[in-house]
Amino acid sequence: MRAGIIGGGFMAAVHSRALRAAGHEIAGLASSSAERAQSSASALGIARSFNSPAALVESTDVDVVHICSPNATHAPIALAAIAAGKHVVCEKPLAATIADARSLAAAAANEGIRTAVPFVYRFYATVREIRARIARGDIGEPMLLHGAYLQDWLATPSATNWRVDANEGGSSRAFADIGVHWCDLVEFVTGHRITRLSAKLVTAFGRRGESASTVGTEDVVTMMFETDRGASGSVMVSQVSSGRKNRLTFSIDGETGAFAFNQEEPNTFWTGSLDENRIVASGSSAMTSGDARRLALLPPGHPQGYQDAFTAFASDAYRHFAGEEVGGIPTFDDGLRAAQITDAVLRSSAIEGWVDLNEATLSLTDPITA
Ligand SMILES: NC(=O)c1ccc[n+]([C@@H]2O[C@H](COP(=O)([O-])OP(=O)(O)OC[C@H]3O[C@@H](n4cnc5c(N)ncnc54)[C@H](O)[C@@H]3O)[C@@H](O)[C@H]2O)c1
Repeated sequence: MRAGIIGGGFMAAVHSRALRAAGHEIAGLASSSAERAQSSASALGIARSFNSPAALVESTDVDVVHICSPNATHAPIALAAIAAGKHVVCEKPLAATIADARSLAAAAANEGIRTAVPFVYRFYATVREIRARIARGDIGEPMLLHGAYLQDWLATPSATNWRVDANEGGSSRAFADIGVHWCDLVEFVTGHRITRLSAKLVTAFGRRGESASTVGTEDVVTMMFETDRGASGSVMVSQVSSGRKNRLTFSIDGETGAFAFNQEEPNTFWTGSLDENRIVASGSSAMTSGDARRLALLPPGHPQGYQDAFTAFASDAYRHFAGEEVGGIPTFDDGLRAAQITDAVLRSSAIEGWVDLNEATLSLTDPITA
């Protein structure tokens, strides 16, 4: 299948490298203008550029549309791609509003279109190993789910980006941008669903950038939550934590043991019990899950990273588009789930209290197997 990429920034480069490594052809790239598309395509070594996203979506040379543009552009482009019968890889957050996320999930289901959302941290071998060990009961039932996703690229008032503007990024920034990754990952590894939450939002800098524009989106979210299987949890999400780059960490504390993971060091994970703590290395004989062994391409000590996880995502997503039953693919249903949690975070902050995810997708779309 031939890919068409929309957007020419950071994620367009990541998607293009992943597609090539996974052995897929890139038919062309479109961006906000014909000129920008041409220069991004040439920088990424993509032979063809399209004059507009619409031209790419309608091209008979494109089978899968990759949406790597700002959040508010996702819904109209994805709806057009679904209407054109193309499979869609849409970056997170799936849409800038919950209503748009709902329409996209419904449209894909109605048209029988296979989709994917790059919740790419699911594609580390270590994450799959933790998931399989929890499913087979190694730590008993998870009781406490806690952690953080911390970045520092917006830690000064001079730093700004399209994400800061609610019109381009959506009403939530830090949570919709990175908090959703944490929730997706922790729900993915535990099989638990967040059912209630209480969130507090902080905007560290009321004005940003050279023009000192007013900021309407949050820099920090502190969230407490409960799950459908009786666990409690908390997560700190921040884009103003000096020195932290992509520090997504989680700890799953179960009845008889615990697992911990740090995305900045994804080649190992920690397992703890009353008697003994261990570091387990990706690619070692201790990795027993089939999925973990499949995703660990190298022996221990040769690191794999974010880009390798993206290649694994692209590879599995295209098998899914080809009609294979592939476990662990994040789809538009998972994108909608993330939008529902984000919506609950904003509602909770507005009323300064706990809210239920009463309309959320609570059923597991992807049952866990060891
Ligand atoms: N899955 C992940 O791990 C991950 C990581 C980073 C970003 N993202 C997501 O990827 C998307 C893109 O983020 P980025 O970091 O690449 O941003 P970026 O600013 O680096 O790139 C955005 C690109 O979109 C283009 N663009 C702007 N308006 C457009 C329009 N109307 N139509 C087509 N193209 C347009 C810009 O010219 C630019 O080339 C965002 O939704 C973001 O949340 C996902």
